[in-house]
Amino acid sequence: MADKASMIVDKDFQIGEVDKRIYGSFIEHLGRAVYGGIYEADHPQADEQGFRSDVLELVKGLDVPIVRYPGGNFVSGYNWEDGVGPVDKRPRRLELAWRTIEPNWIGLNEFVDWCKKANTEAMMAVNLGTRGIDEARNLIEYSNHPSGSYWSDLRIQHGYKNPHNIKTWCLGNEMDGPWQIGHKTAVEYGRLASETAKVMRWTDPAIELVACGSSAIGMQTFPEWESTVLDLTYNEVDYISIHQYYGNRSNDPANFLAQSMSMDSFINTVISTADYVQAKKRGKKKINLSFDEWNVWYHSNESDRKLDPWQIAPPQLEDVYNHEDALVVGCMLISMLKRADRVKMACIAQLVNVIAPIMTENGGAAWKQTIYYPYMHTSLFGRGTVLVPLVKSPKYDSKDFTDVPYLEAVAVHNEEKEEVTVFAVNRKLDEALPFEIDLRSFGSCRIIEHIVLENDDLRATNTVDAQDRVKPHSGGNAAIDGNGKIEATLGKASWNVIRIKL
Ligand code: AHR
Repeated sequence: MADKASMIVDKDFQIGEVDKRIYGSFIEHLGRAVYGGIYEADHPQADEQGFRSDVLELVKGLDVPIVRYPGGNFVSGYNWEDGVGPVDKRPRRLELAWRTIEPNWIGLNEFVDWCKKANTEAMMAVNLGTRGIDEARNLIEYSNHPSGSYWSDLRIQHGYKNPHNIKTWCLGNEMDGPWQIGHKTAVEYGRLASETAKVMRWTDPAIELVACGSSAIGMQTFPEWESTVLDLTYNEVDYISIHQYYGNRSNDPANFLAQSMSMDSFINTVISTADYVQAKKRGKKKINLSFDEWNVWYHSNESDRKLDPWQIAPPQLEDVYNHEDALVVGCMLISMLKRADRVKMACIAQLVNVIAPIMTENGGAAWKQTIYYPYMHTSLFGRGTVLVPLVKSPKYDSKDFTDVPYLEAVAVHNEEKEEVTVFAVNRKLDEALPFEIDLRSFGSCRIIEHIVLENDDLRATNTVDAQDRVKPHSGGNAAIDGNGKIEATLGKASWNVIRIKL
């Protein structure tokens, strides 16, 4: 049996409150996320607006608090006006970010309707690629102003009497990336974002604003980008965004599972940079992080290159996720929880079909991908206060990382429900890991359940014909002794959720 791993948590040693918005997601006008994903008018399970009720049920199962929209790279060439008003008058456009045809059957108002049905709220992005201040102020007037002005009255004319009151707004998307329509230098972007933010806030002072940070830790401009952009926007924005995707391109699972360590350092560097700017400004305000794109993304890269351009809703970015991907997603969620003091929003990218926890067939079934489960478990049970995890674990070295702990773990205390939930990944591929949790200050408690996601085949996937090949069970062996010590065996390459009643 392997060396033991252990974690001590104390109810008074706290990292911070979980902002439920870290369990957010993302719907972009890309591939089959909108058309064939959330919306398919002639699907047997479509509701009166054409929204797929089978997809809505799966989304509700995740308890998603916020959904970013409409992009992504898409937003940098988007005219939001194309998506409002009578549907039969809306233009078909060449969509240059993903080289498709955008029919504009769904736009802002329909998306807000969908959010209500999905028990979630919208996080909107404005186009700072081809457009700017004027478009953003009109959009926010249309969306959030009650009435009595050109754009708010137009919304009312379109059938939406009450303002949408969308609170969270992204100032563009990945403006540091050369692939972005209207790519900018940090100074160009910082000035535009600052002036756009100013007039948006003048239009609606209740909003919160997110400036674009780096598109990945590997960007040449990181972290100078954050430093310059925040220097220029510090007074106007509330959050800096951060994006990261991982992949097992060299078929090296041990190295793949270690990649969340780079996420830890990415988060920590962005926090340090934000705090440096705050110090430089002699500012009182902390800039928090919006990790508004994160996931595993690599399976579909090759098939995407073969797609013909200018189709409506082609099957783009349709990664079919396997068991090891679910473990990496679990590790990424733990990374964000470990900095719950500063990571206040996050969006798994994306929600349906496009690098997503939910897959559908056009006209057919909808099912859960492997990554659905760690996302669901953290969203359902990971609300409350994150406790400082004092972890001891045996370690390994991989191609790109040294001292990788086999155990990745964190605990969340939900005072209201009188529960502690421990989320833990065993990165060991060939052996179980004995795990001891010391809950010292919590007094008497009992195990509610020990949920386990495990599979002998790291490459096992869920497909339309085998929708439950990878799914969790509650047969974990976590047990508690009289002194508040929990002993559990974490199966090889497994995701574990140990729920404890206080
Ligand atoms: O989520 C897919 C794409 O990844 C988004 O459109 C873009 O922002 C990122 O590069």
